[in-house]
Amino acid sequence: MSDQRAVRIAPSILTADFGRLTEVARAAEEGGADLWHLDMMDGHYVPQLTFGPPVVEAIHAASSLPIEVHMMVANPAAHFAALAEAGAQRVVFHLETVADVASTLDLARAAGCEVGVALSPGIEVDAVAPLLASLDEVIVMLIVPGKGGQAMQPEYLSKVRELRSLVDAGGLDVALEVDGGVKAHNTADCVAAGADLLVAGSAVFNPNETPQEALAELRRGLGPRS
Ligand code: DX5
Ligand code: ZN
Repeated sequence: MSDQRAVRIAPSILTADFGRLTEVARAAEEGGADLWHLDMMDGHYVPQLTFGPPVVEAIHAASSLPIEVHMMVANPAAHFAALAEAGAQRVVFHLETVADVASTLDLARAAGCEVGVALSPGIEVDAVAPLLASLDEVIVMLIVPGKGGQAMQPEYLSKVRELRSLVDAGGLDVALEVDGGVKAHNTADCVAAGADLLVAGSAVFNPNETPQEALAELRRGLGPRS
């Protein structure tokens, strides 16, 4: 059953205090975060601008956790080398942002990165199914990408269920991540759908609790860490 799987938590810093990034990074690491999910936005693929390699490098310097970069950008391949250099272990791009998926995957690997694909609400599982064997991860967006703090749209969990069946049937080693609106009260639904990697932005970085408290709350109810 899917909830026997080890589940990892990946904080996103979008709602963190960027003036205290180093402290923020250490607090989440102390709180038991498993890896970083850093959201790069370019003002083209999504309206917002966030950050690029220098912030990835700052987090990498402050924390020993692995880093994945969720690239909400129009031309992801242009940034693979700089992100790898900054310390990104994995890059994840949105399927509809590239003309040639196979060559984009090759470019990411040539830069030294693991690679994943993200599915926005309008993109169905069929679009990624033929690629699964060549991916390290698929992100299922549970919101329209572009900003933190939105409410999860649980209807998109059906894509996670479909992907879990395909991954398990093929005996594939592909992480299935959910991104958007993950909170302590819905982690069980995400895991039951088949997710083994949960992005948590505003659930971890918010004015009401410390990242350590927030991560402990998210962790309760999840299985043992891998
Ligand atoms: C939004 C980003 C998310 C975001 C999640 O486009 O991809 O990673 O930071 O934030 P929460 O967990 O607050 O929805
Ligand atoms: Zn994200």
